[in-house]
Amino acid sequence: MSHVVDTPECSCAALPDLGEMPLGELARSHPQALGLLRSLRLDYCCGGARSLREAAAERGLDLQQLQRDIAALQPQASELPQQPAQLVDHILQRFHATHRAELPELVRLAHKVERVHAGHAQVPRGLEELLQRCLEELSQHMDKEEQILFPMMQRVAPGTNLQPPVARMRAEHNDHAQLLVELRRATDDFQPPAEACNSWRALYAGVAKFCDDLVQHIHLENNLLFPAFEPARGA
Ligand SMILES: [Fe+2]
Ligand SMILES: [Fe+2]
Repeated sequence: MSHVVDTPECSCAALPDLGEMPLGELARSHPQALGLLRSLRLDYCCGGARSLREAAAERGLDLQQLQRDIAALQPQASELPQQPAQLVDHILQRFHATHRAELPELVRLAHKVERVHAGHAQVPRGLEELLQRCLEELSQHMDKEEQILFPMMQRVAPGTNLQPPVARMRAEHNDHAQLLVELRRATDDFQPPAEACNSWRALYAGVAKFCDDLVQHIHLENNLLFPAFEPARGA
């Protein structure tokens, strides 16, 4: 009998090997790791098909350390509805309504900050226009989900193949992921300058919160809801 437990490698050997697991599946099966994945900018939403190993290599992260960090997190029971119809209701209330309430205010705030601080070297020039694009593109996208796809999902049984409309929504999510990159860039990673006024700080905090919400929103759709209406991946 080997005594691997006494070797320095034992803690790694005892870890479940998550290296080949797609990030989307990891996010679904380890909801306690979502905050860690987000803080490391490992894209489990639109980049959810890549394995943890690939994503870690792209970000220059130590895969073994990352697996130890994930293993150290306490498993959490998901509080999300398990049935697609109820998950749709949750997405509508928690995310669609929140984006609609918050984005117009962010557009107004960006307009104010850009105007008042026009002469400042770090003014987020173009942020109002970018947020306006987010508002328009996201509004159209949510309208399509609410008027076409979600009612379909609530009418048919889970397992029904709705791939064409689901694929269109996935493609639009990829566009939204690009907007998130641009928002992060436009706000210097959501970091206002030291002398920024309260409006400027509130704007960046609001944009950071919107980005965090949108990541969670896309994750629930791409990784939990949509797979219930697509043929199994690889099948
Ligand atoms: Fe949505
Ligand atoms: Fe969506």
